[in-house]
Amino acid sequence: MVTVIGNLKGGTGKSTVTFNLALWLVQAGKTVLAYDLDLQRTLSDVAQVRQEEGYEPPLAVSTDLNLPKHFQYEALMDIGTGDMAQMKRALSLADRVVVPVVPSQADIWSTQRFLYFIASEIRGKPPKIVMFINRADTHSSIRESEQAYQALKTLPGVTLLKNRLHQRIVYRRSFSEGLGVFELEPSGKAAREFEELAKLLYSPSD
Ligand SMILES: Nc1ncnc2c1ncn2[C@@H]1O[C@H](COP(=O)(O)OP(=O)(O)O)[C@@H](O)[C@H]1O
Ligand SMILES: [Mg+2]
Repeated sequence: MVTVIGNLKGGTGKSTVTFNLALWLVQAGKTVLAYDLDLQRTLSDVAQVRQEEGYEPPLAVSTDLNLPKHFQYEALMDIGTGDMAQMKRALSLADRVVVPVVPSQADIWSTQRFLYFIASEIRGKPPKIVMFINRADTHSSIRESEQAYQALKTLPGVTLLKNRLHQRIVYRRSFSEGLGVFELEPSGKAAREFEELAKLLYSPSD
């Protein structure tokens, strides 16, 4: 399956989610093809940190969008707006687009625009769109995540997951240390919420 992790907006956690999902899938025994199609090259940089630190298994990241034909794999593509041609190609190859959304008004607007973009620019079979909230506040007194969830619920043709990833320092450490959150703090809250999300995204029914 080809999964693009995308949104027009930066800072929504695309690279964080791609990196962690790729490691999680590798450790689940899958053949993973990870593509860094964002000119910021965050995924490549974090894979390099992992390699320099000597953590196993390493994560191979390609910046060339070539899909092999004859074997089973899970492809993950991290996209950005710096290279719109690559972005469109990735979206046209996608079986689904996983969209992390930060709970803010600007992020909801740009997410809507991303959906229009996919609908208007991508020919052929439309990819399935799966959204979830990333960087949700950990204080339940703050209602922004819930308000964002309700706003996203009104978007047509989208699967909105109830699962959320919260704003946690360990996601930032994931980049600086080159490790998945489930490697950094295996019994931490981030590991638990991330693994629940990953299992849902890769459940057999999907
Ligand atoms: N759930 C989270 N909690 C805390 N920090 C996060 C979370 N998700 C992402 N970040 C941080 O936010 C910044 C942007 O994330 P990144 O994955 O690079 O976004 P994008 O690829 O969409 O631009 C990074 O510093 C990352 O470590
Ligand atoms: Mg990125």
